[in-house]
Amino acid sequence: MKKLIAGNWKMNGSLTANDALVRELLRGLEGDAGCIVAVCVPAPYLSQVQMLRAGSALELGAQDISEHAEGAYTGEVSGAMLKEFGVRYVIVGHSERRQYHGETDAVVADKTKAALAAGITPIVCVGETLAQRDAGRTVDIVKRQMAAVIHTNGHCISEIVVAYEPVWAIGTGRTATPGEAQQVHAVLRAQLKAATPNADRVHILYGGSMNAGNAAALLAQPDIDGGLVGGASLKATDFLQIVRAAR
Ligand code: 13P
Repeated sequence: MKKLIAGNWKMNGSLTANDALVRELLRGLEGDAGCIVAVCVPAPYLSQVQMLRAGSALELGAQDISEHAEGAYTGEVSGAMLKEFGVRYVIVGHSERRQYHGETDAVVADKTKAALAAGITPIVCVGETLAQRDAGRTVDIVKRQMAAVIHTNGHCISEIVVAYEPVWAIGTGRTATPGEAQQVHAVLRAQLKAATPNADRVHILYGGSMNAGNAAALLAQPDIDGGLVGGASLKATDFLQIVRAAR
C-alpha cells in the first residue's frame, strides 16, 4: 500500500502564499512521488488550489464537512459542494474541532457518513489529551472515538482513512515516539479488523509535530501508513522532505 501524506494547513494561507506554496510543491512532486500526497486547505481556497493542482498528482482535501446534505445550516459546507471543487479527502473530527467547536463522537460519526455519501474519503481523527494519557486512558479513548465511527458507518468503514493525533503532540513540537505511536496504531488496526476484512487496506496516519527530521522513523513502523502534517506542511521544503521519507 502506498503511504499517504496529507498536509493540514489549518487556518493559514492567503491567495499569494498559497500560490507560491503549491507551485513549489508541484515542482517537487514532478515524476512519481511514490506515495499519495494531499493538501487540506481552508474552504475559501479550494477553488484556487483546484486550479493550481489541475493535471497533477497532488490531491485536494478540505478540513471539515457538514453532517447535513443541504438546507438551513448557516456557515456550513456540504459534501456535494466540496465534491464540486474536486475534493478527494476531508478531515473529520480533528481535535481542534472537537475542542473548540464541541464536536462529539456522534457528530464525527455523522460527518464521516456524509463524506462517504458524497464520495469523499474522510480522514477521521482520534487521539487522547495529555491528562488522558497520564491517567492510562489512551487506548480507551481512541477505541471509544473509533467505535462511534464504526458503529455508524458499518461495512463502509474500509473506505475511511484514520489519523491518530495525540492532542499533546499537536503543534507542541513534542512527538509521540515511533514506539508509542505504533502501539496505538496497532490497537486501531485490530479494532478495524474486527469490523472489516479489509482493515489492512485502511491508511492509519500519524499526526502531531511530524517533521522532516522525525518522519522517516515514524513511517517505518508497521502500522503507520502515512502522516497528517500541520505546521511542516506550510513549508514546501519540509513537506517535500516528509513526502520523500514516505517513499
Ligand atoms: P502539527 O503538525 O502542527 O503538530 O499539527 C498536527 C495536526 O494537527 C495535523 O492535523
